[in-house]
Amino acid sequence: MIKQKYRNLHEDSAKYKYFCRKKVMEFNELKHRVSSLIEKQDVNQDEKLRLICELLKAEVSHYDWVGFYFQNEDKEELILKAFAGEPTEHTIIPFGKGICGQVAVSNDNFLVDDVKAQNNYIACSIDVKSEIVIPLFVNGKNIGQIDIDSHTAKAFDKDDEDFLVWVNAEVSKKMF
Ligand code: SME
Repeated sequence: MIKQKYRNLHEDSAKYKYFCRKKVMEFNELKHRVSSLIEKQDVNQDEKLRLICELLKAEVSHYDWVGFYFQNEDKEELILKAFAGEPTEHTIIPFGKGICGQVAVSNDNFLVDDVKAQNNYIACSIDVKSEIVIPLFVNGKNIGQIDIDSHTAKAFDKDDEDFLVWVNAEVSKKMF
């Protein structure tokens, strides 16, 4: 289980550096589990995406909701295809709306330390304090995204970003 134990430590302290190294090692272990899940036979694409969501939510303590949205280009909206966590009413998100809709347009990773400070934000639950959205590219084209909510403020950092970029690249390479 990957935990955010280091958050209150000073960046120069040995303990902080130790926790950061440990977290990266644990993310590396989790990568192997994501890969074997993707390579499973007899499991369809939707089910694999759902299993990835379940795995990440179960193994990373600050991931409280994990979902994959995919683009419907004709309608310029995102459709929720797989998730783990509380069901959300936001299963369709127009391009440009909320953090997810902005990523559909910008093609950039979006890390939000404090969702309350965002004026273009769609609240899924009052418990959510921070969020990360990483676009998913297939042959260089943004076709969807992974969206993660946390009940902890400032939950996401570069390690999460690098890990999730890797997850999406792996999904793209082996599932599309
Ligand atoms: N908060 C997102 C909406 C999706 S939920 O987090 C599941 C947004 O602002 O786009």
